[in-house]
Amino acid sequence: MCGIIGIVGMAPVTARLVATLKRLEYRGYDSAGVAVVLPEGIERRRSVGKIVSLEDKLQEEPLIGFTGIGHTRWATHGEASERNAHPHTAEGVAIVHNGIIENYAELKTELRSQGYEFHTETDSETVAVLISTFLKQGDDPKVAVSKALKRFTGAYALSMIFEGYTDMMIGARQGSPLVIGVGKDEMFLGSDALAIAPFTNQVIYLEEGDWCILSRTGYEIFDMNDQPAERPVQTVETEDSVADKGNYPHFMLKEIFEQPKALTRTLKAYTHPARGTVSLPKSGEEELDFSTVSSLYLISCGTAHYATRVAEYWFEQLAGIPCKTDIASEFRYRRPALAPNSAAIFVSQSGETADTLAALRYCKEQGVKTIAIVNVPTSTIAREADIVLPTLAGPEIGVASTKAFTAQLLSLLASAIHAGHTRGVITEEAFADYNKSVFSIIDLVDETLDLDRQIYSVCELIAEADDVFYLGRGVHYPLALEGALKLKEISYIHAEGFGAGELKHGPIALITDKTPIVFIAPTDELFEKSLSNLQEVAARKGPVLLLSDRKGVDLAGNVPTASLEIPACNPIVAPFVYAVVLQLIAYHTAVMRGTDVDQPRNLAKSVTVE
Ligand code: AGP
Repeated sequence: MCGIIGIVGMAPVTARLVATLKRLEYRGYDSAGVAVVLPEGIERRRSVGKIVSLEDKLQEEPLIGFTGIGHTRWATHGEASERNAHPHTAEGVAIVHNGIIENYAELKTELRSQGYEFHTETDSETVAVLISTFLKQGDDPKVAVSKALKRFTGAYALSMIFEGYTDMMIGARQGSPLVIGVGKDEMFLGSDALAIAPFTNQVIYLEEGDWCILSRTGYEIFDMNDQPAERPVQTVETEDSVADKGNYPHFMLKEIFEQPKALTRTLKAYTHPARGTVSLPKSGEEELDFSTVSSLYLISCGTAHYATRVAEYWFEQLAGIPCKTDIASEFRYRRPALAPNSAAIFVSQSGETADTLAALRYCKEQGVKTIAIVNVPTSTIAREADIVLPTLAGPEIGVASTKAFTAQLLSLLASAIHAGHTRGVITEEAFADYNKSVFSIIDLVDETLDLDRQIYSVCELIAEADDVFYLGRGVHYPLALEGALKLKEISYIHAEGFGAGELKHGPIALITDKTPIVFIAPTDELFEKSLSNLQEVAARKGPVLLLSDRKGVDLAGNVPTASLEIPACNPIVAPFVYAVVLQLIAYHTAVMRGTDVDQPRNLAKSVTVE
């Protein structure tokens, strides 16, 4: 998603704007730009492609101003080009925007009929032109912005600067996050706290419909009805180490290896301080009482969705709660028949995914209790849910979700065990067993990470393929889906996940000696079934990478093309172990193919548009 930075500074801002855009690269982008207020007016520099191109431009044509804005663009309307890159300008104003102005077309038609010209294919340019029309009518920036905001429908996080106003910047948010940074005689606007972390840890989270006027020494915040609004200044600690890869070549590899620490932090939050057993963290005043929950809706996107697909097995098997999982972009449009006394769990690393947020709001309207499992406690989803169950993975920079995924699994497993125990479905003896398994996860993940070199060595089998299939049964069916997503999103190899039992109902037609199959087959109650599915594939000469703790699997003469001996573990925690293996398979394969592992093409870290 687009990245936004704005500074009303006491010193030249251009270098700090560009440095921040580099920090925001992880959000995914295809072009970038900055603009500053100069005595003679507003000047901007923009470039398509990586930020280094923008730096080259600024080298040739420097910009020296004390008030400015910057933007990394993830294209929604209009191709990735310099012309469409932000900041967008119109007479008297320059803006940067994250989100979609859904009624931009009708506004454009109206403004064109008044003789105003447009120079881009973007929705965002409409914001600049509309504000400019009010400025030309004699309105000051505050009035002009207030009038313009009332005309927009859709989502926006905006940072705006004005000709002749060197000590002013205006921000606004509706549907896309925006934070104010309170500095020492300087003020900042950013897409998130990480963006402004180097400048200040005093942050104000604007709420839906809020807009603000910043000067170097102060700020005013208004709500959607233009009434003055009080918003708390929060101290946020973002580890600066987050912004560097340390000794790792990529953030993704660093975050894969951070999983023991991330899981330790998360597990601590889900451990009763006195009893030392699995329990749920307190979430404000609300108590999460699963004993009254008739059914569960688990709603998320992408990798977070696959975490809920695994959790579906856990909640039903351990707690006896009927579950329905949905991808958030489909959920509310199918007009679900929501059961009375049901609850909905929304899993999101960023806590800003527009589809998931919209589904949460839909459930709240329907009177369903909403539970958010998020990695950013100050995110919009966290702030709007009734109950928050945090994952403590720490900021995840790589676009491909890794440590957040296993932390989500841990939060979900702890919740399912807690639910089963409070509902009396899990006996005290079984509860003790489950606790033992949960507290073994971190050592198991450590042990699995030690397989990194062996995993690297088998990726040759995949790196040259055009199509790869992932197969699994039970909880390893959604794991197969997640493994396929990891591979395709960072290596660009077409990959598909299937329930292993489903292959013979059609997809097996695709199996040839050129289609590697990654087969997840731990020793569990489905292992024998998996073995016969494995035979089906091997009989068609499909090269198999077998992931199993079972030794010496012999496929009646068609031995697996390769196999990895995975640490044996209780089936209830096997998803944590196999998830790490799948992450490393995707990572090493992508590196072999030379793709941009941390910022894969077309992808954004947080998808804040529907
Ligand atoms: C995962 O590797 C992807 N980057 C993507 O599918 C992601 O999981 C999805 O966009 C959901 O994001 P969220 O967890 O921040 O809501």
